[in-house]
This record gives sequence, structure tokens and C-alpha cells, in this order.
Amino acid sequence: MCGIIGYTGKKESAPYLIDGLKALEYRGYDSAGVAVCGADGLRIIKSAGKVAALEIKVKAVSPEGTCGIAHTRWATHGKPTEINSHPHTDCSGEIAVVHNGIIENYLPVKERLEKNGHRFKSETDTEVIAHLLEEKLKNASGDYEKELLKAVAEAAAELSGSYAVAAVWKKAPGTVIGAKKKSPLVAGIGDGENFLGSDVSAFGNHTDKAVYMDDGDIAVIKASGVEIYDKNCAPKKYEISVMEKSGSEAGKNGLEHYMLKEIREQPFTIKSTIESVLADIDSAFGIKTGDLKKIKNIMMVGCGTAYHATATAKYWMEEFTNIPTQAELASEYKYRKAAIPKETLAIFVSQSGETADTVAALEKAKEAGFKTVAICNVYGSTISRISDHTFYTKCGQEISVASTKAFTAQLAALFALSVLIGRAVGFLDEKTEKRLLDELSRIPEAVGEAVKSEGAVKELAERYYRDKSFVFLGRNVNYPIALEGALKLKEITYLQAEGFAAGEIKHGPIALLSVGTPVIALAPGDSLFDKMSNACEEVMARGAEAVAVTDSRGNKALDPKIKNRIVLPDTPEYLAPMVNVVALQLFAYWIARLNGREIDQPRNLAKSVTVE
Ligand code: M6R
Repeated sequence: MCGIIGYTGKKESAPYLIDGLKALEYRGYDSAGVAVCGADGLRIIKSAGKVAALEIKVKAVSPEGTCGIAHTRWATHGKPTEINSHPHTDCSGEIAVVHNGIIENYLPVKERLEKNGHRFKSETDTEVIAHLLEEKLKNASGDYEKELLKAVAEAAAELSGSYAVAAVWKKAPGTVIGAKKKSPLVAGIGDGENFLGSDVSAFGNHTDKAVYMDDGDIAVIKASGVEIYDKNCAPKKYEISVMEKSGSEAGKNGLEHYMLKEIREQPFTIKSTIESVLADIDSAFGIKTGDLKKIKNIMMVGCGTAYHATATAKYWMEEFTNIPTQAELASEYKYRKAAIPKETLAIFVSQSGETADTVAALEKAKEAGFKTVAICNVYGSTISRISDHTFYTKCGQEISVASTKAFTAQLAALFALSVLIGRAVGFLDEKTEKRLLDELSRIPEAVGEAVKSEGAVKELAERYYRDKSFVFLGRNVNYPIALEGALKLKEITYLQAEGFAAGEIKHGPIALLSVGTPVIALAPGDSLFDKMSNACEEVMARGAEAVAVTDSRGNKALDPKIKNRIVLPDTPEYLAPMVNVVALQLFAYWIARLNGREIDQPRNLAKSVTVE
């Protein structure tokens, strides 16, 4: 997490830095700072809190200088105070650095530097980088820019952990240096001005040309151009990527929150994603039919909401391919002595494509020799660059920290992939394949209807927003949707919310219920309706309040005692998750809104979790 921006050009850097920080704020928003490199040296301005607070300070000071770096923080080491916010400086105040990642050996490095007389001001791991550079540059003379490049390379060799670092030095004005290991860093190529950013959104308002850095790369960014060096300071050739324009409009469309806008966009983002797959399903995921035919095991990996997409798709994969399938939490998989089944297809699901746990799991899968495919929403992201193939969901930028439209697009892609594999391995016949894909194509319309349930969902939220504890129940494909509903609610409302497989409640979770506890039961009129109906009876027998998320078939059959209902369109049983989850997203949204929460930027969270 944390967002980095660097600018060098002919114009004042401060407005570019603030603009970049605003675009990067989704990566962390507990404190922020800038370092502007001008004629009199470095001007550092920092602030606890959001970028808006920093912007006020920066405008008041108007620091002059056409080169600078800036940072928006998600704290790992040290509280989110002004002193701990980046940029951090060396003892002389001539070197400033910003950092995303974790320096794992910072304590021994700090101890050594302190013994050499360096004085530290913050509790962060990052500050060691500034002092390490000071140490390396103490005898520098002559070509200061080259000396800085060498110092960064030497410092990088001494640091372990993960970092994307940008540095400026008073003696090399006009130069921003960047170094990368396991955290994302991208250079932006403009016209007489160049950039460095955690991702392309940092400079997307100014240029569409980007250079994605590899681990070990060092970038020297000047107004006149961008140079990339390897860890031994040998120059490297690089490729310039031209960024695609995002399909979704920037801004909130006049709505109060990005989350609501993104929920309402889903009929379109799902449609675009499905169209992109179905335009040429045989090549959409990049795996040749001959390779698909050999698959004997399927593993899907993700974190948080992306994991819930894999957990839902496990049902589809097994039903449509008859191939053993695992849905794995990336953070657990990477440290487990997992089996290495032959002919495994490993699928990595990530909105950002930068989640550190998922990146680490992907690296492990590659070491195991698995074929890898990524489902990502961000072009050029780390996961898309490491995996053998990538399918991009067509959501445009997802800004709200709580993931919504990325989730349903991931589901659409995974559903199509499960049908593709099923057909390739001969478990599905052509007719069934066609029927399933036709049903998938009709889902955007059903999701459009689900979006229209907002009024009914809001009424329910008005009834329950004062409650402190919520339970979500589902079975089969709707079990992961119960987990997702609970995750959505807890992350933006800070209320206790747990999701369970409905059949499990009698084995323990039922003890959570007391009189009036809202239990949101996913109970469409499908093959397991009777079981869900029983679960509702059981919770009501304990005084809890069942809230049914159902369809017209379930609505007819439900016990009249269940007064609280959201009735969604009828869909084939296996596709119901894409419709049901919309009601749960809206429920979380309205409970949070009625509680006055900061919906798009909930406390303690960040959109992209690039540290372990
Ligand atoms: O960018 P990713 O999809 O890899 O992110 C994974 C999770 O961090 C993410 O889904 C997180 O759980 C969301 N805040 C959920 O709304």
C-alpha cells in the first residue's frame, strides 16, 4: 500500500504532486507529504490525515521547484503521525525519500547507522533509506547524478524486504531516482516532463505512456528523459506501453460515493467483460485448447473479495469440468507445504493485480511448474506481468476500497473459463456449452433488475442500521456470497458481520443469535430452497429476524412469517450469486451511509494491499 509520485519538468512540481496523490489516495490515506526540490534545497511539507489536509498546507506555503516527490501512507511501522509520514530525510535534510513496502532488516541497519552518528526522527522503517544514502554519498564529488544512482544501487543491495522508493537530493536538482523490489513502480513519459508513480493513475492526467519497472531496476527521471538501469548500474533498454483509456467515467456521476456509482455500473461492467470473453472465448484466457485438455487439477487463488470469487467459481469448475478444484487464500497458500498435483492450472484473481500475498502465491505456483492465468482489472499490473496469461476484466478503475464491480466481473470471467475448460476436457457437450454461455449473456439484464432493488434494500437498512451484529447464510454457490456480504458490511460499517454455510449454523454459530439479530438468508427458489427455508425457521425459533434474499419462486414458497424480503429476478441456480451479491452490496452501503461512515475510504484499510 502507500502511493508514490515523482515529477520533474519545467513547471512547478507541487500541483502535479498533489494531483498524483489524489489519484493514489486509494492506496492509503492516513497521512501524506511532499518534498519539493528548488533553488534553496528541499522543502518538506507533511500532514497527518488525508491528502486534502496536505493540500491546504501546500497551498499556504507554495513551495517552489520543478522537481519533487510525494507520498500517501498506509502505516506499517509507526503510528500515522506527521513525524512518521513520508518523505523522510537524512541528518542534513538534503536527501528525501518516499517508500512503499517494508524494509525487513531495518532494525540492524538502523543500529549500525546510529553507531555511525546518524540521528533518527521517526519510528518508520523507511527512514533508514535516507540515512543509508547519506552514508553512501558522504564523499561524493563531481557528477552528483551518477553518484546518486550508485548510492541507490548500493543501498538497495543492503536492504531486504520489499520496496518501491523514490529519492531526491539537493545536489542533483531536477533528478528523481526510483528503485523497485516486489512493490510496484512505473515511470511516466511526458513531453518535457517525466514521472514516477506507484501506478499509472499517479500521472494518468498528464501522459498515457508508461514504463513498467522490473525488480532490481533503478530509474533516473529527468525533464529531458527517463533512463533505466539494472542493479549494477548498467543501462537497460525499455519498452514504452501506451495505456488504454478506462471504460468507466471518472468522478462520481453526481452520487455521494464511488461505491454506489460502482454498484450501479455493474450491468455495464459485467456486459463488457462477458463481451470481451465471448468475442473469442478460445483465446480469451490465452491457454491453447491442447493445454486445456491436459488439465487434471485446478487451483484458484485470491484475497478478500477476490478469494470469494474463487470460492464461488470452485462450484462451477467442479460441476462443469469434473476436475478437482481448490479455492485458496493467497496468504495461506504461500506458506503451506501444499501438494503439487500434476497438470495443474493455477488461476490468480486480483482486481489491482498488485496484492502482495497473491503475487507471492503466484511465484510459488510458477516454481511448482503450474500453468498460470491471471484475472485482473489493471493493465500492466505485477500479477498480469508475472503470470503466463492474463484476462482483463472490463470494469474501468474501481476506486471505492470496498470491491463491488470487480467482483461480479471476476465471477463472469470465471464462469466462462469453467465452461471453456469443461468443453475442452469433453465433460460438457456443445449444446450445454452454448446454453450456459447464453445464460451468462443474459445476466447483465438480471443484474440491472437487482440494482433497481435499491429502494427496497434501503428500507431494510433503515430498519436494521442500529443493530450491532449481523449473520449471513447461504448454501452451495451462495455460501461464498454470504461470506462476501458479511465482508462488505464489516469493512464499511465496522459492525460485526459473519457469513456461514447455512448447514453449519447448528454446529455452533447459532449460539451467536439473540432476539432480533438480523439473519440475511440467501434463499432463492432453487434445489436447496427447502434447506434454506429450514435454516430460516431455525433462526426464527431462536428469536432472530430472518431477512430473505430470494427470487419469485422462493417468494411464493417462503413461510409468510418472513416479512422482510428482497425479491430479485429469477436466474439459473448457478448464476444467482451475481445477482444476489448486488443486494448485499447495497445493504452494506446503506447501513454504512445511515451510520455516517466514510464509505469510500473506511478506517484502517487501503485499496491495494502491497505489503504482507
Ligand atoms: O486487488 P485485489 O483484488 O487483489 O484485492 C484483494 C483484497 O484486498 C480486496 O478484495 C479486499 O478484500 C477488498 N477491500 C474487499 O472489498
